[in-house]
Amino acid sequence: MCGIVGYIGQKDGTEIILEGLEKLEYRGYDSAGLAVIDKNRLRYSKHEGKLSNLKESIREEPISGTLGIGHTRWATHGVPSNENSHPHMNGEENIAVVHNGIIENYLILKKELIDRGYTFKSDTDTEIVVHLIDFYYEGDLLGAVTKAVDRLKGAYSLGIISRLHPDELIAVRYESPLILGIGHGELFVASDIPAILNRTRKVVYLENNDVAKLSRDSYLIYNGNRLVEREIKEIEWDIEAASKDGYDHFMLKEIHQQPQAIKDTLLRRIDNNGSIFLENINITAEELKKINRVYIVACGTAYHAGLLGKYMLEQFVRVVVIADIASEFRYNDNFIDEGTLVIIVSQSGETADTLAALREAKSKGARILSITNVVGSSVARESQDIFYTWAGPEIAVASTKAYTTQLVAFYILSLYFGRLKGNLEENLYHEIVNELKELPDKVKKTIYSVDLIAMEIAEKIKDKSSLFYIGRGLDYYTSLEAALKLKEISYIHAEAFGGGELKHGSIALIEEDTPVIAIATQQNLYDKTVSNIKSVKSRGAYVIGITRERNTDLGTICDKVVYLDESFNIFMPLLSVILPQLIAYYTALIKGNDVDKPRNLAKSVTVE
Ligand code: M6R
Repeated sequence: MCGIVGYIGQKDGTEIILEGLEKLEYRGYDSAGLAVIDKNRLRYSKHEGKLSNLKESIREEPISGTLGIGHTRWATHGVPSNENSHPHMNGEENIAVVHNGIIENYLILKKELIDRGYTFKSDTDTEIVVHLIDFYYEGDLLGAVTKAVDRLKGAYSLGIISRLHPDELIAVRYESPLILGIGHGELFVASDIPAILNRTRKVVYLENNDVAKLSRDSYLIYNGNRLVEREIKEIEWDIEAASKDGYDHFMLKEIHQQPQAIKDTLLRRIDNNGSIFLENINITAEELKKINRVYIVACGTAYHAGLLGKYMLEQFVRVVVIADIASEFRYNDNFIDEGTLVIIVSQSGETADTLAALREAKSKGARILSITNVVGSSVARESQDIFYTWAGPEIAVASTKAYTTQLVAFYILSLYFGRLKGNLEENLYHEIVNELKELPDKVKKTIYSVDLIAMEIAEKIKDKSSLFYIGRGLDYYTSLEAALKLKEISYIHAEAFGGGELKHGSIALIEEDTPVIAIATQQNLYDKTVSNIKSVKSRGAYVIGITRERNTDLGTICDKVVYLDESFNIFMPLLSVILPQLIAYYTALIKGNDVDKPRNLAKSVTVE
């Protein structure tokens, strides 16, 4: 999982590439590098650590050129180091390659190349690509690249330049995202749009097996040796949307963007009369009746949204729903046939496990409906039906607004399918839709009302080695998400327990002053949760309760209680997740952690 930027034009490519890499650091940030062609010389600089190390080195020893490629890395093969950083060069250092993805057959190819006399400087899978190009090179760079990629198995997007071809930039896409940016007398290559949005709004999404040859004012795209046309799309969102907007961190900005993101996701679908319109969902009433089973498949936070989705669809559509994590689903012997609907949830739309699960299900005849935040992403392109969450770009590794808009997606889909199937009575439907429309304001109010309390709780827990979230029903699903948020950025061990499960083992972990955050918003299960709270309290836990306004009695049982606005049970997860998001944020902040780029993680996991 890495980010690629390429430039060919009249300007200084170094500056443009560094600017682009900065916008892609969320894709990986353990090392960075770039190569440019400068008066028929190939010059490069690459460094372990954050992009700032590369910038510093280029400031000390400037390199420039009107053709270049750059890379920000998240290590897969080989530790983060200068040698393993991209670009990788052939022996004579006249060809340079940057790569995002993973070459699965690299060991076989490496052995073959070593037998042919090639020597390797890095432990990466990428280095075989540049040596393969070198091996096939007979004066035609595009031809050599085409022959080399024919040998590769795995996932790769590539940027390639050569000092022997100072007017040529080659871009390749297979299973890893790559776009072209179209400027005036200049062209760009990038793993994602924010990298080039300062420069152009016209982009081409490369498709699998596309090999593009870019010169300064034109480009050709080949697929399987055939010349192909790809549509140029105009990007409508602004670069401001991908910057911090005055917040200290992207995560905080994204937490505060939730009311707007929820509103955007909702209001584009529900008209003033409360009717739902879904432009990319084509399932008819007839087809819906034939669906006998639904799988919801996703990873991490998206999976937690899927758990709530399962509950919602079962409630309103009365269909059997199984929620599974993609990395398990893809290897399970699932019950899939033409009567199966698989709902894929992925913010990025590029998560490798999720994409593999999608393909597995599709190959067995399932209909694929995806919930994704990225238009034109792989998941979107390979699905029959798409629900776009209009959350805008999510940059922080810790997902917040993508999660809450995924919940909204499930609310809308369940209501829509519930009506389509005739299972949801009209009055109830309108009552729910009316309350749904109130939620952006309630989320906004919650963000402001719990902010200070989140800081206080962060102070209290910052030195703890463990923290537990407990909840029942939908509150249990929120607890899973809350615990993931805390551990991924504060590095505190956090776990979620269904309250009823405590007595089956986990309660042994509770000792004097162990922090337990109990989410108790599901009114039908409230008494049960109160009993669970009492059981941890009597073993010495320090308990913080999150509940609705009406449950004032919780104040006499917990050490601290945070009250939320009232709403329907099904909507409380949108409100109850806000405090845990902020607790995670402030705890990471107090501990001096890199909030937006936590250790060992990357935003988009495009390798298995
Ligand atoms: O892009 P996706 O939604 O497919 O990503 C799935 C997970 O990797 C992601 O939700 C991850 O768990 C987040 N870092 C959690 O905050």
